[in-house]
Amino acid sequence: MAKRNQWATGIGFILATAGSAIGLGNLWKFPYLMGKNGGFWFLIIYLVFILVLGLPVMVTEMSLGRYTQKSPVSAYRSVGKKATVIGVLGVLVAFLILSYYSVIGGWILKYIESYAVTFQAVDFGSYIASPVEPIVWHFVFMALACLLCYKGAKSIEKASKFLMPLLFIFIVIIAVRSVTLPGAWQGLEFMFAPSADSFSFGSITAALGQVFYSLSLAMGITVTYGSYLNKKNSIPKDCAVVAGLDTGAAVLAGIAIFPAVFAFGLEPAQGPSLIFGTLPKVFESFAGGSIFAIIFFILMLFAAVTSGIALLETVVSYTIDDLHWSRRKSILIVGLAVFLLGIPSSLSFGVLGDITILNYSIFDFMGMLTDNILLPVGGLLMCIYIGWFWQPGKLIAEMEAEGMKFRLKKAWLWCIRTVTPALILVVTILGFIDVYQKIAGV
Ligand code: PFF
Repeated sequence: MAKRNQWATGIGFILATAGSAIGLGNLWKFPYLMGKNGGFWFLIIYLVFILVLGLPVMVTEMSLGRYTQKSPVSAYRSVGKKATVIGVLGVLVAFLILSYYSVIGGWILKYIESYAVTFQAVDFGSYIASPVEPIVWHFVFMALACLLCYKGAKSIEKASKFLMPLLFIFIVIIAVRSVTLPGAWQGLEFMFAPSADSFSFGSITAALGQVFYSLSLAMGITVTYGSYLNKKNSIPKDCAVVAGLDTGAAVLAGIAIFPAVFAFGLEPAQGPSLIFGTLPKVFESFAGGSIFAIIFFILMLFAAVTSGIALLETVVSYTIDDLHWSRRKSILIVGLAVFLLGIPSSLSFGVLGDITILNYSIFDFMGMLTDNILLPVGGLLMCIYIGWFWQPGKLIAEMEAEGMKFRLKKAWLWCIRTVTPALILVVTILGFIDVYQKIAGV
């Protein structure tokens, strides 16, 4: 077997993994889920889940990648024929997620255009309800992701070392502006002081799904990254740093948004429109705000594109490896299929708004299906398979390669065998009960 390329530096690896993890999940989805699910308690549960569920799963996937030196589906196949389904499930979820991820990417493109042409944001509500333009921008986003995926990601990796830290700086600036607005303290209270307003079982399910989504787990991507990781790197340490950066970015995005939401009297539980309605008001509140807005949305687009490429690559590499398609054919077919699948999600904000599946709009249904069902089920199957039907000791040996010590190995084993699968199971079932009660109106 040819030796796989490896990351040249430890920090390069961490930045690349963080670059794929940090995306719309942190900047757009985390604040809106938090707004919908009771603020403080959602945050606390999210943080606990990162520790007892996100990190153990991430460590498992990354060590599996380095141990097998293979791409996800082959990696799972090599630990057992039945485990192949876990890898294939991950590919399917990446495909589904990308379809609506790209719709949001299209919204960002529209904001950039709108600020560049008129120096202000577009009227968000009527824009996303229109039948044609959002689909055109969704197409442009997908075309961009396909093109960059085809060209290879070398220059993106280089750019990401500079642009991702810049994005952090911009979010910090927005957060500072946001918390200094009159009435901002209510937003900080919403995030950091206990109150249980809109909290339900569904909120716990949402936090669980978001941990998988935000850390890019159960989609094979961490297995792929692990397969390129140098044996000298400490897997648990690297995972902790990536999870820390990812969580930091999400919390920071919350601090940038909620004080402004309350200061401007907006609705924290409004859903996917939250940051698109709030940020323009923050930008209006300082001199040169529209120039700042253009740069910010370009940086956000960059974060979305890097994550979009990672999602696309997951599906593309599967079709190349298993269906023996050429790279060109694969990118064209997968890109087109993702684009077509995203159209109903986009239209569900307008002409298809009345269509519901289990009381969800098409867009919300796709999110629920991927985040609250398929990702947790993938994580659950992986923990059970690796923990009980395979030899997790092999992964411990992998983490302790080159004389490294994995101090938390007992805790890790305990998590992936018991705590993590039990939590996923209980939370997912509670989530189903919540959905059922909402549908039945009880
Ligand atoms: N973790 C990314 C986000 O939070 O936006 C989404 C994602 C990117 C998931 C890449 C999976 C992936 F392979």
